Amino acid sequence: MSQETWTAVDAYIEAEVIPSDPVLTDALRDSQAAELPAIQVSPAQGKLLYVLARSINARSILELGTLGGYSAIWLARALPADGKLISLELSPKHAQVAAANIARAGLSDKVEIRVGDAVELLTRLGDAGTPPFDLVFIDADKANLALYFQRVLTLTHPGSLIVTDNVVRHGEVINPVSEDASVQGVRRFFDAAAREEAAGRVSTTTLQTVGSKGYDGFALSVVL
Ligand code: SAH
Ligand code: DHB
Ligand code: MG
Repeated sequence: MSQETWTAVDAYIEAEVIPSDPVLTDALRDSQAAELPAIQVSPAQGKLLYVLARSINARSILELGTLGGYSAIWLARALPADGKLISLELSPKHAQVAAANIARAGLSDKVEIRVGDAVELLTRLGDAGTPPFDLVFIDADKANLALYFQRVLTLTHPGSLIVTDNVVRHGEVINPVSEDASVQGVRRFFDAAAREEAAGRVSTTTLQTVGSKGYDGFALSVVL
């Protein structure tokens, strides 16, 4: 099995069940034109986020890491008319590109982008007593994953779903001496998830994935 096969199968899945969509292709085109890194979720993964959000009837969603708004569009499309998505983004440039993409998608009423360091913005969300989120997608920097997971837990309710991206890292996650700060961040995330599991606060599993984005994975956690 090779990257070539994984990419071809993703193309097949897209051709079968992910109708081509100008809003999403335009978002990718403008993200590329603005030289944003092409690290957004794949179409099939974006649709996974949509399917999950619809499955739990999510009305309030929190995202960490907006980039050009690609995953935000998938998530926001799953919301009911009065639903809300708050997305946190460090880079003003990324946030600007995302805001334009989200406006073209007709989702500006539902999506609020907050610019700043997610660590700080999460603290402010907690202080503001923002109502708990039904779904959280953690997809910002990986070095802070464990901290994000802990903070996000305080912003959820029993039954909330936390989806954490990029937790397998080509299998490097099992290398305890990895010198990659992202890998070490993911390992601390799993340690935090294990502690929360033992404390009975959350139940977590992980799905390894292959596809056009290579070999990686999503952690799925339900708050108990
Ligand atoms: N969720 C997006 C991809 C996000 S890429 C999608 O799938 O479409 C990761 C994003 O996290 C980048 O835009 C990066 O600028 C942002 N980021 C990195 N460190 C951050 C931090 N400390 N706080 C908030 N955002 C951060
Ligand atoms: C990277 C970040 C992501 O969120 C992702 O999905 C893939 C790669 C990165 O920082 O390399
Ligand atoms: Mg990611």
